[in-house]
Amino acid sequence: MTASPSLVDLRGITKTFLGVAANDDIDFDVRAGEVHALLGENGAGKSTLMNVLCGLYRPDRGQIFLSGQETAFRTPRDAIAAGIGMVHQHFMLIPVQTVWENMILGQDGFGFVLSKKAICRRIGELADQYGLHVDPEVPVWQLSVGEQQRVAILRMLFSEAKVLILDEPTAVLTPQEARQLFATLRRMREEGHGVVFISHKLDEVAEISDRVTILRKGRKINTVRTSGVGPEELAEMMIGSRVVPAVNKRAAVTGETVFRAQELSVLNDKDLPALEGLSLELRRGEILGLAGVDGNGQTELCEALVGLRRLQSGRIFFNEREMTGASVRDFLGDDIRYIPADRRGTGLVPTMNLRENYVLRHYWREAFRKGPFMNWEAVAGQTGRVTERFDVVTPSLGVPVRMLSGGNLQKLMLARELDGNPRVVVAMQPTWGLDVGATAFVRERLLEAREKGAAVLLVSEDLEELLALSDRLAVIHKGRIMGLLEDPRRATEETLGLMMAGRPLTSPKEGD
Ligand SMILES: Nc1ncnc2c1ncn2[C@@H]1O[C@H](COP(=O)(O)OP(=O)(O)OP(=O)(O)O)[C@@H](O)[C@H]1O
Ligand SMILES: [Mg+2]
Repeated sequence: MTASPSLVDLRGITKTFLGVAANDDIDFDVRAGEVHALLGENGAGKSTLMNVLCGLYRPDRGQIFLSGQETAFRTPRDAIAAGIGMVHQHFMLIPVQTVWENMILGQDGFGFVLSKKAICRRIGELADQYGLHVDPEVPVWQLSVGEQQRVAILRMLFSEAKVLILDEPTAVLTPQEARQLFATLRRMREEGHGVVFISHKLDEVAEISDRVTILRKGRKINTVRTSGVGPEELAEMMIGSRVVPAVNKRAAVTGETVFRAQELSVLNDKDLPALEGLSLELRRGEILGLAGVDGNGQTELCEALVGLRRLQSGRIFFNEREMTGASVRDFLGDDIRYIPADRRGTGLVPTMNLRENYVLRHYWREAFRKGPFMNWEAVAGQTGRVTERFDVVTPSLGVPVRMLSGGNLQKLMLARELDGNPRVVVAMQPTWGLDVGATAFVRERLLEAREKGAAVLLVSEDLEELLALSDRLAVIHKGRIMGLLEDPRRATEETLGLMMAGRPLTSPKEGD
């Protein structure tokens, strides 16, 4: 590869928040026709650096050069006008508007009025060119996460960005969707775009990038040609010489059924059947894994199990007590916990601080009461203890949680939901967006909850994770259970793959 000129060049970027340097004197450049990976652990400063590049943050120090010319962005609009587009970790789309409306909303850099017809035509062209198909007439809230990401990418291409920044784009994708995304990124590279790909997954970085820049604790460690380094070397640059503990799973001591869902039927947000007579039992002290391709009813199932989604029919029992039709507050108390896949929407309140977010789910505890009032001192003490145990990096417990990095936000929610002595844990994609160390830690915590007797439902698309953690493993397809393996260790990827594609398990004895 001959070095093409840099499209953008960041020099000596420093950005501090409340006295902590999120970026400390960082150099970074993007060339035409390359995928440049930005690799680092949770909180390393990746999003911050790219937020500087896309005009969302102003650096305390440092310069930005565009094709050799020094420039300054006062707002994201300036950056967009200069051809820099970013798909954020949490996409910034407007859910009630349609796909085509989202192309122009909030960008208002267009000096002329585009007709709907012209916009849809352009969407169609870009979709063909980059393999990003999506119906322009549909409101964004009806799309799956993968489709929403496509819209966010289309939006960048629509605004004619030359530099395209994707912040952990694969964290929310199924393996199949990730393949499609990589094909799109390769097309962008061929078309001469400069692509920044943020990730903490070594295999992805090795597969897709031409160069990689490694950040650790706000500092740049190095920029290297990807083909010139092996995975061990990259890992070492990313985390230092620290050793990531392997997950240690002890044999299960399963007990009686504590949670039972009987013949559940529910509708999805489009009022179409999402679950059709699905039954499920969770036993004390087990992790029941649920495998399946995203969008086969997993979210609706989890929401139904914790009282967040109305049942069309069916019944739910917790310790033989009927819960059907009970309020969310009755479901989600000290005993039943829920880790949703959508951290922002349902998990945490961005504008509230860490203490408030913690106590949202524990306010009824005696220890947090002082007569009719909250005992904020006790809340602060407990929040401090759990965030420390979960290694949540934050300037203080009093800052709004929107200031946390993606991974730390996730750790905070897990800390809150796994605190205490839950009897039932419904966890969707609990390790999304976490780096290797944090992933191992969260898996340990789920195993710990199980050892303390909790019944855990683990919904994941990561087969490796499911096989490592599950005591039993079920597969969901189109709202039905295709089969239940009593001994996942004996499952082959082929059996699982067939079940995920909709073939029921033929012999119920398999895996016994
Ligand atoms: N708006 C903000 N206010 C205060 N602190 C912030 C803000 N944005 C980021 N930080 C802090 O800066 C540090 C780097 O955060 P950043 O989001 O850049 O990390 P990251 O590498 O993207 O991590 P992740 O993989 O978890 O998304 C973190 O410690 C974070 O708490
Ligand atoms: Mg980030």
